[in-house]
Amino acid sequence: YVMSRRQGRLQDVHVVITAGGTQEPIDPVRRLTNRSSGKMGYALAAAALQAGANVTLISTTGRQPPFGITYVPVTDVRQMQQALTARFAASDIVIMAAAVADWRPARVAQEKIKKQPGQETWQLDLVRNPDIIAGLGAQKTHQFLVGFAAETQDLIANAEKKLAAKHVDMLVANDVGKPGIGFGAEDNAVVLLQSGTAPQYLPKAPKTTIAAQVISAIAAARTPD
Ligand code: CTP
Ligand code: CA
Repeated sequence: YVMSRRQGRLQDVHVVITAGGTQEPIDPVRRLTNRSSGKMGYALAAAALQAGANVTLISTTGRQPPFGITYVPVTDVRQMQQALTARFAASDIVIMAAAVADWRPARVAQEKIKKQPGQETWQLDLVRNPDIIAGLGAQKTHQFLVGFAAETQDLIANAEKKLAAKHVDMLVANDVGKPGIGFGAEDNAVVLLQSGTAPQYLPKAPKTTIAAQVISAIAAARTPD
C-alpha cells in the first residue's frame, strides 16, 4: 500500500551518516570537543533505515544504534575521515551530520600535562583538521552528498557559501544559537538548501520528525517522481 511504497524509497540504497562531535586528544586525560549530542545523526540513521536503506552510522558518541544499522565508532577527525574514505566508493548517499572539529592540538602529550608552580595561563597550539566533506565533494562520482551548517548568524547566507564551496548536493542549515533547538536539544528547526531551488524551511519539530523530512527530501532530490 501507499505507506510502504513511500517508506521504501531508499530500498537497498547505501547511506553513510556521521554523528556526534569529534574529540581531539590533548593528553591522556583531556580532549577538545564540542556540544553536538549526535541526536540528529541517530535520528537520520533511523529514518534512512525506515526508508529501506542499507545504513552505516559513523559515530563519536559510543552509543550503539538500533538493530539493523552498521555501527562504526570513531573518536577524532582523522579516524572519521578514514572511515568515510574506506566506504565512499560503495555509498550512494553520505550525510555529514557530525560536528567536525576544525582544529586539533598540534601535539598530543603522552603523559598528563602538569601545571607548573605559579603558572596562570596556558597556550594550546592548534592545527587545522582536513575538511572531510570538501574532500568527498571534490572526489564524488555518483554519491549524493549532504552537509550540515552550524551557524549562529546570517544562517542562509553563510550556509549558501558552504553549499557551493564544498560541492555538496544539499545543505541542512542549522541555527545553533537559539535555545531549544540544535546542539543537545530534542527539537530542531532547519532550512534545506540545494542549488537552483528555493530554500525549504522545516519548522521546529522533534529531531525524529526533522530527520524523516530530511530523508524524504533527499530521496526526492535524487529521484524526483
Ligand atoms: N565538516 C567537515 N570537516 C571539517 C569541518 C566541517 O566535513 N573539518 C563538515 C561538517 O560535518 C558539516 C559541514 O562541513 O557537514 C559544515 O560544517 P561547519 O562547521 O558548519 O562549517 P565549516 O566549513 O567548518 O565553517 P565554520 O565552522 O568556519 O563556519
Ligand atoms: Ca566548523
